[in-house]
Amino acid sequence: MTSGGRHWDFRPGTGHGHVPTALVTGATSGIGLAFARRLAAEGYGVVAVARDRERLSRVARELAALHHVPAETLPADLATGEGIAAVAARLEDPRRPVDVLVNNAGAGLRTTFLDSRPEEAADLDTLLYRSVSELSWRAAHAMRGRGRGGIVNVTSLAALFTSGPYSASKAAATVITEALAAELRGTRVTVTAVMAGFVTTEFHARAGMSLAGVPGFLRLDADAVARQALRDARAGRALSVPGAFYRALAPVLRAAPRGFVREISRNFQSAR
Ligand SMILES: NC(=O)c1ccc[n+]([C@@H]2O[C@H](COP(=O)([O-])OP(=O)(O)OC[C@H]3O[C@@H](n4cnc5c(N)ncnc54)[C@H](OP(=O)(O)O)[C@@H]3O)[C@@H](O)[C@H]2O)c1
Repeated sequence: MTSGGRHWDFRPGTGHGHVPTALVTGATSGIGLAFARRLAAEGYGVVAVARDRERLSRVARELAALHHVPAETLPADLATGEGIAAVAARLEDPRRPVDVLVNNAGAGLRTTFLDSRPEEAADLDTLLYRSVSELSWRAAHAMRGRGRGGIVNVTSLAALFTSGPYSASKAAATVITEALAAELRGTRVTVTAVMAGFVTTEFHARAGMSLAGVPGFLRLDADAVARQALRDARAGRALSVPGAFYRALAPVLRAAPRGFVREISRNFQSAR
């Protein structure tokens, strides 16, 4: 462990040697944008990944102008094999090491499992699980070779519910993150799953859902989520649950009878 109880710290002034680099997927909006802004403010160069090229360029210009850090754009659709391969190649480029990877890109599914098409669930799984698993694997090998690094995977508290393909893929992403964290214990590479509750972003509107019925105390701010996640990642925690209410709720959900969990998941799905 490095000084101050941290597993890693690449910020300027910590003796790291080069301008540290963070690759953030889904960096143009919501939680990913909050990670990108926070890391750039700390002095990280940022590689921003998303599909919309224009928004990517806007974010890169903002980060470079405000924080005087290098900001790259990497357009990729992470629901496709080609998109995952493009980001994997950047993570494995030995000339431009990535010190911190934030797998955050994601989307919701408007319908229940039965009302969706099988291809929709498969594409969602590629985005929420397959890309997270493969990019974590690639980054973990490169980081272990260099002796340190941080991988932060934004999963969801939905992993503890049974809300269709979204819950299933988020559960798989959480499990593979914990598996990797356990395999890398004792190294200076940390792997952290961020199990977020409701966060005010574009996520719900994009999926045709609304946060209107969700009480204010359940809605987290994207920057607060990124701040807590980075604190937990630097401390080497395998799981991060931002927000005091959600931190209290998670163990209750884990211990609750599954029939009860299925019932609230079903009611929640039919209410949206
Ligand atoms: N908001 C919540 O309540 C909540 C709760 C728990 C977990 N989460 C998780 O948090 C993560 C971030 O979500 P958010 O709430 O910040 O949503 P958001 O505001 O909608 O942002 C989603 C980001 O992901 C990118 N993205 C979406 N599909 C992509 C694809 N196929 N390939 C590459 N990039 C893609 C989007 O850019 P482009 O559209 O340009 O690609 C955007 O930058 C997701 O994994 C989500 O599941 C959210």
